[in-house]
Amino acid sequence: MMNLKGISTKKEDLDRYEVDHIFHSWSFQPDSAPKRIVSAKGLRFMDEDGREFLDFSSCFVSHNIGHQDPRVVEALCEQAKTLCSFAPTFSTGPRALLAKTLAEITPGDLSRSFLTLGGTEANEAAVKICHQYTGRRKILTRYRSYHGATTASMTLSAGDPRNWAQTLGGTDWVPVPLPYCYRCMFGQKYPECDLRCVKFIDEVIELEGGSEKVGGIIFEPVTGSNGLVVPPDEYFPTLRRICDKWGILMIADEVMSGFGRTGRWFAMDHWDVVPDIMTMAKGISAGYVPLGAAVARQHIGDRFKEQFFSHGATYAGHALACATAIRVIQVYQEDSLIENAEKMGKYLLQRALELKEKHPCIGDVRGLGLFVGLELVKNKKTREPLIPLKAKVLPGTNPKLAVAKKLVELGMIAMAANPSNVIAIAPALIVKQDEIDEGISIMDQALAEADAFVEYAGRRKDK
Ligand SMILES: Cc1ncc(COP(=O)(O)O)c(C=O)c1O
Repeated sequence: MMNLKGISTKKEDLDRYEVDHIFHSWSFQPDSAPKRIVSAKGLRFMDEDGREFLDFSSCFVSHNIGHQDPRVVEALCEQAKTLCSFAPTFSTGPRALLAKTLAEITPGDLSRSFLTLGGTEANEAAVKICHQYTGRRKILTRYRSYHGATTASMTLSAGDPRNWAQTLGGTDWVPVPLPYCYRCMFGQKYPECDLRCVKFIDEVIELEGGSEKVGGIIFEPVTGSNGLVVPPDEYFPTLRRICDKWGILMIADEVMSGFGRTGRWFAMDHWDVVPDIMTMAKGISAGYVPLGAAVARQHIGDRFKEQFFSHGATYAGHALACATAIRVIQVYQEDSLIENAEKMGKYLLQRALELKEKHPCIGDVRGLGLFVGLELVKNKKTREPLIPLKAKVLPGTNPKLAVAKKLVELGMIAMAANPSNVIAIAPALIVKQDEIDEGISIMDQALAEADAFVEYAGRRKDK
């Protein structure tokens, strides 16, 4: 074996290691290395060639407080100097304090946390808690969802082409429609529809065995990577009533929508509905360290005083991650970032709606807080999607990727590589009005790529 300290760190060699030795997520393995990032500050980051970029995505909606906040870096270093981690059978101060902090900021009596390393594991934990608490195997999930990359969470990611490659398992899943008014699966219009999509769930629960067989329903309160879908106001209160009628658990996946992203601590706060289990990650530690949590209501947590809790992990409640998250959560409050997200979110939505007027490729604009999506179409009237769903997993022309490439050329990133037809805009919660203007202006230029595809779509097809 070569001397490990002697491994070359030259630029071209690092590029080669990327190509030869890494599994790159959700993609065909590339034949050239992606851009290498060397530093970041606030809303900006820099590549190794010294070029600066605007981050309009918060790195997959995780870096909510901006990059490299010195207060958080200091808390992280202080904890590292004292105790990085210890066996989870023991307590650490940061773990206890984070659990109390989460009980404080989550709605209602959500109060007992299982701490994980990310969102996927938080959802796996939630599903296991649901199975163990109810003793039932079936979990309802909504089409066009993403809940994570491992067995149960990927199975529950119904209608996301990323789950097509996987043998389903981990739970018995039953898909139901999303309240996606722009493309209603029932062909209805809101509000005349009388919320057919949520009433349909009631019927599905009965057909699937009701209280004897169905344990829960998992959902993203505001759908993230599959299309920025915001439900009508009555949706969640109605769903809560249906779940109570059957005694099934509501599992709110707030991995993307939590921690101020929508202008409230959690998106469910918009509708005053308390889910039975809430999962979170990303904004909990704002990307500084890997962390997630599944937080259960008190009576669910208390059940496991008498019933064996059959779940665990070596790094559950890792001290370094907990200490960092505590400081991140304090920063949201200290800097009034949730309030800023609400205020700046309204401005961002207004500016994004202006783009819709200008660009033939934008069929719909929607969002909540600093979580705004532009839905791309070939034709505004027919609403024909610009990109087929399978474009995510099959190689070929995907106009959204052309937009993403152009954005980088112009010095910005947004969320354009997700499976839906939607480009998501999600800057960190520290964003100011002039930075929104800057990002919208770059997006305006980049959207010309997708507009061109609208004009030439017919011709390309005929080729
Ligand atoms: C709503 C939602 N749930 C779960 C996950 C999975 O989280 P992670 O990538 O941290 O495992 C994601 C990731 O994007 C997500 O958006």
